[in-house]
Amino acid sequence: MFMNPPQTVRVWDPFVRVFHWSLVSCVMLNYFVVEDGETLHQWLGYIATALVAARIVWGFIGTRYARFADFFPTPQRLLRHLRQVASGQPDFHPGHNPVGALMMLALITLVLGLGLTGFLQTTDAFWGVEWMQELHEVLASTLIALAGLHALAAIVMSRVERINLVAAMVTGVKIRKRAQQST
Ligand code: HEM
Ligand code: HEM
Repeated sequence: MFMNPPQTVRVWDPFVRVFHWSLVSCVMLNYFVVEDGETLHQWLGYIATALVAARIVWGFIGTRYARFADFFPTPQRLLRHLRQVASGQPDFHPGHNPVGALMMLALITLVLGLGLTGFLQTTDAFWGVEWMQELHEVLASTLIALAGLHALAAIVMSRVERINLVAAMVTGVKIRKRAQQST
């Protein structure tokens, strides 16, 4: 038995990694710890919104795999990916695969929606308006549900692709283990 040397790709730059774990912290704190809508909640919510705004800019000027051009899930890219997966062929993307990219876009859109509905609740026009509070709450619950699915998918895909995707979001490097072969 031997293990071939692993294949390594430097994929996530420091900005993407700091962005990701800071966003996770703000969202988790706002949902599970400081969900009273008061000052700290508002600060954390605006920080999350600003992080996403900065990530969108980085999506145009950032490093190769951080760019929307690298992973934007166009219908062609999605179809090709789904066909390949359905046929049992691995479809390895160093950056986000098209389905992961779709999830990324959903997550950042929900954070922007929370920033907006949160802000509107602090204005005279929407202060105390029940449907706006409910919309904010629904967006928050949807974000947490999708984030749970996203984390689960990252763990499952790590096994399928033999790459520790979560570690890659910490170190920036994707290391693909080759399958073990018998001599
Ligand atoms: C509130 C919770 C979370 C949010 C809002 C969130 C959001 C995101 C976003 C926006 C990206 C895209 C990164 C970029 O291109 O800049 C991403 C990627 C990623 N996230 Fe999360 N995330 C959350 C929780 C988690 C957790 C708990 C894990 C670990 C289990 C995780 C693992 C990953 C991984 C591995 C990637 C890269 C996926 C790939 O290789 O394509 N995320 N996440
Ligand atoms: C990551 C972003 C955010 C998340 C995950 C989040 C989540 C939540 C949650 C779970 C609640 C409790 C809902 C309930 O049970 O009634 C809440 C309430 C509230 N949030 Fe946010 N929020 C975010 C951003 C913001 C921002 C940016 C603001 C304002 C600047 C804001 C203002 C409020 C207010 C005023 C309430 C109280 C609403 C009420 O009285 O029911 N939030 N938020």
